[in-house]
Amino acid sequence: MIELEQVKEQIKNYVIEIADSRSLELLDLLATGKMLRSKLVLKIAGVTDESIKLCAVIEMIHASSLLHDDVIDEADTRRGSPSINALFDNKTAIMFGDILYSKAFTQLTTMPSDIAYNISNAVTLLSVGEMLDVDLSKDFNNSYDKYLDMIYKKTSSLIEASAKSAASLSGKNQDVFALYGKNLGIAFQMIDDILDITQDSATLGKPAMLDFVEGKVTIPYLLMWERLDSSDKLKLEGLYKKPLDEDELKWIKDNMNSTKALQDSMILASKFGTEAIEVIKDEDNEELKNIMKSMIERSF
Ligand code: FPP
Ligand code: MG
Repeated sequence: MIELEQVKEQIKNYVIEIADSRSLELLDLLATGKMLRSKLVLKIAGVTDESIKLCAVIEMIHASSLLHDDVIDEADTRRGSPSINALFDNKTAIMFGDILYSKAFTQLTTMPSDIAYNISNAVTLLSVGEMLDVDLSKDFNNSYDKYLDMIYKKTSSLIEASAKSAASLSGKNQDVFALYGKNLGIAFQMIDDILDITQDSATLGKPAMLDFVEGKVTIPYLLMWERLDSSDKLKLEGLYKKPLDEDELKWIKDNMNSTKALQDSMILASKFGTEAIEVIKDEDNEELKNIMKSMIERSF
């Protein structure tokens, strides 16, 4: 996609403006992801100077949040490559994250004020979402409402703000696109949580089956827990945050299937995806449906 190359070029130009060679070196080491947020903005707003700049700002904020997240999660891989904290140290990852997101905010101040408000408000939400994620990872969480609120803030809020801002740029209905982005974002995180269980490490570009060991009771675990009898509930809670051996992994996977927790998590994610499409049905944007479909059907 040629326009995604334009976004990458814009990010590079912003980092060049910082006039710091170390920042440029570190930028080169960041593996690019799926650029879902940019794809969404460009499909909604079309490719213009403004939309490319908006994408660059959003991708820089997203990248900085992942730099910090890898420090918080003590993760040593990101998108199949060593994370910056693993390559260097936590300090480098935090400082480079600070440089990227403050530069993004500087550029945001040159954009229309409603867009600057939407995006910066979403960054507050995603920071709160990260804190909720860390808090919910302390003890076994069996509340779906808490899980949903956390993934909305941690992941969906920036996708929602991206879609809403793109609608604002192009004079489209902001509420409709915000709701599309919100539902898409929730579906996206649920799929991420499912892939942690169904995919191998090579496909994921990070260790598989790690969420539960890290204390994250994601949607498949939540549904499974609800459906187990009391002794198996206790068994699952006993495995929480422990390194798992082959037998324990097999027990989890078997029960994921026999309770239909995995299957129903997929149905739930698809439901949010379908709702996303439903709200934009009058907008005649076939490509936005395709983004949703390929996001649901992805394998990493
Ligand atoms: C990934 O979650 C984390 C996020 C989507 C948000 C992280 C947000 C912050 C660290 C707040 C700070 C924000 C800025 C702009 C500096 P995950 O750990 O579930 O996913 P993963 O498996 O990809 O790591
Ligand atoms: Mg993480």
